Formats: sequence, structure tokens, C-alpha cells
Amino acid sequence: MTLSESIHYRAGSLHCDDVPIRQIVAHVGTPVYIYSLRRVLANLARIRRAFASLNPHIHYSAKANANITILTALVNARAGIDAVSAGEIHRALLAGAEPNDIVFAGVGKTPNEIGYALEHNVGWINVENEGELVFINEMAQSLNFPPVRIALRLNPDIGADTHPYIATGHGGAKFGLPVETIRSILARQGQLKGVSIEGIHVHIGSQLHNTAATQQAVQKALDLIAPYERIRTVNIGGGLPVAYHDGESIPAWEDFAAALTPLLRGYSVILEPGRSVIADAGILVASVIYVKEQAGKRFLITDASMSELIRPALYQARHQIIPVTQQSGGELPYEIVGPVCETTDVLGHDIRLPATAPGELLAVLTTGAYGMVMASNYNQRVRPPEVIVLENGEQWTIARRRETWEDLVRLEQ
Ligand code: LLP
Repeated sequence: MTLSESIHYRAGSLHCDDVPIRQIVAHVGTPVYIYSLRRVLANLARIRRAFASLNPHIHYSAKANANITILTALVNARAGIDAVSAGEIHRALLAGAEPNDIVFAGVGKTPNEIGYALEHNVGWINVENEGELVFINEMAQSLNFPPVRIALRLNPDIGADTHPYIATGHGGAKFGLPVETIRSILARQGQLKGVSIEGIHVHIGSQLHNTAATQQAVQKALDLIAPYERIRTVNIGGGLPVAYHDGESIPAWEDFAAALTPLLRGYSVILEPGRSVIADAGILVASVIYVKEQAGKRFLITDASMSELIRPALYQARHQIIPVTQQSGGELPYEIVGPVCETTDVLGHDIRLPATAPGELLAVLTTGAYGMVMASNYNQRVRPPEVIVLENGEQWTIARRRETWEDLVRLEQ
């Protein structure tokens, strides 16, 4: 079972570090996301150790989980932030990030967002199309700003071994710039006085299943910048995978580091990890409302749904689901579903659990990344609270409260 030192059973009762999950649920109810800050910081430290010989700048990818308490803890642990919208920049600044430690990325930055990033002096803008570069150049000049530090995002035309919805580096994807476009931009960069092109960026996808494709993509980026001495920063994106299941065959982060380190020696390196920092630090806890046997299947209908966790519905993602209180007895296969009016509202297919009754608590594992950030109010469901167990492992805090029905209508009059 993909349990960890932080998400584990003690005397048959699931804990987050030293706190029984039941204790949190008794105070805040279900569904609820619970994160171990200790695990988040341990993951960050492990990534740092793996890549230590490159001494990289780590910019945590806020899109994975943008809770301000999490961002603050990572900023305090000297992480920069990778932001993909003005909203994420805003959160990063509220969390105390130095503007210079923020990378602003994204395939469709609006003029408003670019203005906001420039006014706040973000450290880097990762550029994904020529029109955007021209716009940034003009805006920086018209505002009399010093040249803005730019990394050009390469689309290396390399497929990633991952779910097609989260692969970004193949030629048909909307992301990045083809090699020829980057060459032509670099050939005329002297005319672009408002920008200073100092970096190359490449990210071929998330939850990567092999190191070879990343190696190839990075090599392509290095070949491209070789003639340009001013470009010595290489941003290799995110993508470090996490185990969603026991025995899943994914390379260790250390394998990625070992594969990339020889190529990148002598460069200034930026990493943008998201999932690897936060995924296995989080769980979604739900209560079983009903048990229903129908069409030869046993359904557990829970109070969590695709509105709280869309990954199974969207990417056919398989998350382990376990009881909060361990029970003995034979296991039965269950379909774990939510109350939302969609057939695809399934949290887990064919999940084997001891006989489970209404009122029991289930934990959906490895949901710290791309869980709450992708939650919606579909079916007018309120988004769940986020609880963080602090680094000492004993205290916990409601880092975001449960929404209310009032919250749901507040913006309409
Ligand atoms: N950098 C760039 C340019 C990215 O596009 C991403 C993720 C990251 C960094 C962070 O990647 P990570 O370390 O988390 O793999 N919602 C999907 C994942 C979408 C990833 C989008 N980009 C999921 O739930 O699997």
C-alpha cells in the first residue's frame, strides 16, 4: 500500500503524522482534504538532494496545490514559485515569495496579466509564442522598465510516456515554440530592447514514466542555445512522477537527476516540480452515505465526488482508497462513487475493501496535487476544507474553511 511515514496506520487507525484522521473529521466533517506539511517539506528536501550537484533553483509549481499556507511553508523553505496566471502570482506574493523568485509561465498570458507581472517585477517570464514576446517587449519599453528576463519555451517535438492529456512536448501540442521559431527569434533578438533572453525552458509532460525522453528534450534545448553565450539558464520544468500504487514502475527522482546531471553541468538550472512535492502528502477523506447493490456491482456512495476530485473522471487516474479504520475480514470489490449526476462520477473502480457500511470513513490517497485546485462547485456542491498537519506532526490547522451555500451565491445579484 502506498502509505508513507506521514500517512500511515497506528493501531489500525489512519493518521496524518501524529494526528488521527478521525480527530480532524470530528471537528471539520467530510469531505475534507488533509495534508502533511512534514511530508511536503521532506519531498522538497529530497528533490534538492537528488539534484544537489546542479544546485538548481526550485520553483514549486503552484498549479498543483495553491493553498497559501502550503505556499508560505515552501517559500520559507527557500522555494521559488512557478505561476501560470496572475491569480497564482497574487497568491505567491501573499505567501511572501520574492517577486524575483517567481517564474511566470503559461500558453496564453493576457495583456492584463503581463502588465501585473511586470509591475511586480517577477524574475522570469517563460514565453510560448512570438506575439507574446513582441507584446512584452513593447510593454516593457513603453513603461520604461529595464529589459525583462525571458526564457523561451521549446516544444521539442518529443512524446512523453504519460497520459495523453498531460503530455505537452509533442509537435501537435499547443505548448512552446518549435526549434525554427526559437532560432529566428534569437537571430533578431538585438531588435527587442525591452527583453533580455537568458533562458530556455522545456517541459514535456507530467507524471513522466521514463527519463530518456526528458534527456532527449533537454539535449535538444542545449544544442539550440549552444551558440548563444548569454543563454545559460535551463528550466527543465516539472514532471517528476509519484507512485499512485504499490509496485508502480516509475523512475525514482534520483534517476532523473542522474540522467540529466551530466548534460546540465555548468548551466544555471531551474526545476518546476508540482506533483512530486505535494501529491503523496495529501488525502481526501469521505464518508460513506449509502451502500447499494445493483447490476451485479456493489456501490459505495460517498459524500466526495468528481466535484472534489476530478482526476479519476478526467484522466482515468487510479487512486488507492482505504478505510480510515482498518478492519479484518474478507475483502469485497466496490465501485466508489459520488452523488454527482454523471456516470463518470467515480472515485475508484473495483476497489477491494472489507465489508463497508454507511457512516464509515474512506481515504483517497495521493490527492495532494491536482485535487483541491481542480475542484469545482458542479451540482452546487460546496468545495471542501483543507486541513494541514503542521511540521511538528501534532498540531493542525484549517488552512481553508469549507465553503457555504452563501459562498455559492455571493457573486450573483
Ligand atoms: N512546469 C510546467 C510548464 C507545467 O506545465 C507543469 C504541469 C509543471 C511544471 C508541474 O508539473 P508536475 O511536477 O506537477 O508534473 N492536472 C494533471 C496534471 C497537469 C500538469 C500540468 N502542467 C493531473 O492531475 O495529472
